[in-house]
Amino acid sequence: MWITRKVEFSASHTCYNQALTEAENAALYGADANPHGHGHNYTLEVTLEGHPDPVTGMVVDLQAVKQILEREVVDPMDHRHLNHEVPPFDTTVPTTENLAVEIWRRLQPHFAAGPGRLHAVRLYETDDLFVEYEGR
Ligand code: NI
Repeated sequence: MWITRKVEFSASHTCYNQALTEAENAALYGADANPHGHGHNYTLEVTLEGHPDPVTGMVVDLQAVKQILEREVVDPMDHRHLNHEVPPFDTTVPTTENLAVEIWRRLQPHFAAGPGRLHAVRLYETDDLFVEYEGR
């Protein structure tokens, strides 16, 4: 069984790879390479896998899940400029793909022992675009 918790946060980013030239960045990322950055209202869906506890009827303690998501993702990222304020995005390009990987990396240890193991993170950059990552 899978259970999904959704949270939202807003952050700015610039998609720019310092290893590439200005022209290469512009060609790759278009307006997203603008050094001033721009914002997105991200929606994160975190899916946990497990079975309902026979006593509580719950796969996980959702209050605990909410606290982990706030501590590991929302508090450090909400209203931040990812490139300037949220490592590793000082050196890693903060595409939606890389952001999903980083969110997985931050969350996974907290769910490694169960109950409710981390199954997937799905990160929406817009209504029309999301990345789903299952840790591989
Ligand atoms: Ni963007």
